This record gives sequence, structure tokens and C-alpha cells, in this order.
Amino acid sequence: RTHRIASIPGDGIGPEVVDVARSAVDLLAQQEGFGIDWIDFDWGSEFYRRYGRMMPESGLDELAETDAIFFGAVGAPDISDAVTLWGLLIPIRREFGQYVNLRPAKHVDGLAGPLKNPDGIDLIIVRENSEGEYSELGGRFGRGTPQEFASQDAVFSRHGIERITTYAAHLARKRSGRITSVTKSNGIIHSMTFWDEVVNEIAAEHDDLTWRSVLVDAMSAELVLKPQSHDVIVCSNLFGDILSDLASATIGSLGLAASGNINPERTAPSMFESVHGSAPDIAGQGIANPLAQVSSAAMMLDHLGEQSAAKRLNDAVDSMLRSGQVTQDLGGSLDTKGAEEALLAVLSQ
Ligand code: NAI
Ligand code: MG
Repeated sequence: RTHRIASIPGDGIGPEVVDVARSAVDLLAQQEGFGIDWIDFDWGSEFYRRYGRMMPESGLDELAETDAIFFGAVGAPDISDAVTLWGLLIPIRREFGQYVNLRPAKHVDGLAGPLKNPDGIDLIIVRENSEGEYSELGGRFGRGTPQEFASQDAVFSRHGIERITTYAAHLARKRSGRITSVTKSNGIIHSMTFWDEVVNEIAAEHDDLTWRSVLVDAMSAELVLKPQSHDVIVCSNLFGDILSDLASATIGSLGLAASGNINPERTAPSMFESVHGSAPDIAGQGIANPLAQVSSAAMMLDHLGEQSAAKRLNDAVDSMLRSGQVTQDLGGSLDTKGAEEALLAVLSQ
């Protein structure tokens, strides 16, 4: 069996960390006896400077032919983030029905972080990935007048809330059976009360699970004070975006946070990417932590049915973290290349 993978390293540290993850996947493929066919796409900010768009017009059609998309990061200081995000990432997520964004955060024993007691953190954020607050509806009005204002609509559909909540419920059943829905229905009175209502309907269909509903502000505090009390967390696009950076900080570094943009029906490829961005402050220095991208590759292998390779890759990352073979963001002394060598050495044992 051979998997056709679109590789989009993108900008900044994207190519640096994608390289490492690809070497690990290639080694695993060789060891486990499956094939990986990487298809390279040089899309991103450099492409934009040259052609005035983030990907060619046929971009999505080309990606549609693949089994999965492996994405690094996009973003450059001289180009608006709205262009890089809406020109590449968001069209892929929406065109390919990747309405689930999975963002796990699991603490590895002994790894230092900002929390006094991070032991036992093992949660997963299920972020709604196709609607909600990230919407093109709205606009800028009265430019240049004293009355100038901007309005931004959030769009929540019954279908959208039902499918993300149902996905989270099935996931919770495979894990601890605990699920938290994040809301803000005390302040956002139309969309978030609708969210609560639909979540409650789905909860009634899955009453073997333990459901909680927590306001997003209280949730931010809980993720710092007692993250261990949460397992599956289902939330809207914006809340999930914010809370997942917070959750990844609690386990040590943004440089560890992996994610999958999943099309659960498998009618189109899913996309796997590190949560972090292009990190222009450290790009080109060869010091980026590649493990977020590596863990994203493990999620991809799992999705492709390569469970044994996925588990070995996750175990290898855990083993590096436990033995302190880590990059500077985690207080270690390795650079990106050193982390790659350590990873390949663990996989070769
Ligand atoms: P960022 O995630 O790129 O960096 C935030 C901080 O974390 C920086 O200090 C950076 O050095 C550090 N960091 C991130 N990843 C790291 C790693 N692997 N190893 C060590 N340190 C790491 O977020 P920032 O600075 O807000 O955004 C930079 C650019 O990236 C912007 O243009 C933004 O729009 C874009 N971005 C793109 C994303 C994507 O492609 N999915 C996601 C987030 C941001
Ligand atoms: Mg990324």
C-alpha cells in the first residue's frame, strides 16, 4: 500500500520542521513496509509574492487527488495574515469538509512547564473548523467618517453544531467518557444559546457520557488551575483556536502541539499541521522544535490506517521528552537537526 501525501511546508520554520517529520515518516514506511509518495507544493508567501495568490487556481483540484495533506505553517511579516490564512488554509479546510479540528494536549511525566502540577494532563480539543466566528459576513462601514464601524457576523448552523458535537461524543466514548462543551451564552445571546440548545439535544442522545457546559472565561481559568479535570472539550472555531494554544502551553510548549483537520466522512483528504505558525522570530536559525510537526505526522499515519507506525512515532516523541532530548523552547540544548538525529536514533532502536 502506498499513501499519496501532499506536502505544503509553507513559510518560516514550516519547511524546517516538515523536513524532520518527513524523514521520520520515510524511515517508518521503510521499516513497516508501506509506501509514501510525497507530492511537493511550494505554496505560501514566496509563491504569493511571485504570482499574487497563495496557491494556483487549480490548487484545490490538485490536493483533491491525494490521500492526506501535510502542512507546515504560513505567515510572513510583510503579508497580511488575512491573505495567507484565507488564501490557503481556510479554503482547504472548507472545500474538503474538514469540519473537525483535533488538538490534543498530553503531558509527558517529568517535562517542565509553566504549571506547578502538569502531571496527568491528557485532553483533546475538538474545535469546530468550518463556521462560527470565522466568517466572511460583515464589513467595514463609513470609512473615514467619525461614525466608522466594523461588523462581523458569526454563523452557527444546526447541522454544523450537531455534527461537531456528535463527533466529540463518539471520541469521548473511546476515551474517559467525559465531555465539556465551551459556551458564552451569558454574553453572546443568539449564537451561543443556540449552541447550548443543540449540544443539549445531542447530549440527550448520548446520556451514557458525563456532559458539562462551561463558560469560555471560566474554562480559560480551569485549563490553568485544573486541566486534569477535562478530557474531550468541544468548542466553536474561535474558542477552540484560543483554548488550544492555552492547552499546549500547559504541557510545555507550542512547539509540541499537533493538530488534524479531519473530514470524518473521508469524502476528501484531511490535513495535518502543527498548531504553531511560521515563527519569523526564530526562522532560519535551525532551532525550531520539530516535535509538533512530528506528532502531526503521527496523527496523519493513524488516519491513514498505519496504527503501528503512528504509535511508534508517538512513543518516540514521548521517549525524547522523558529523557530530556529536547530543543531550547523546552529548556534543552538540541537544535532542529539534533532533534531529528535523536528521533531517527530512537526509531532505529
Ligand atoms: P507562532 O506560533 O509562529 O510563534 C509564537 C511564538 O512561539 C514565537 O515566539 C515562536 O518562536 C514560538 N514557537 C512557535 N513554534 C515553535 C517551535 N516549533 N519551536 C520553538 N518555538 C516555537 O505565532 P505568531 O508569532 O503569532 O505568528 C507568526 C506567523 O505565523 C503569523 O503570520 C501568523 O499568522 C502565522 N500563523 C500561522 C499558522 C498556521 O499556518 N496554521 C498558525 C498560527 C500563526
Ligand atoms: Mg502549523
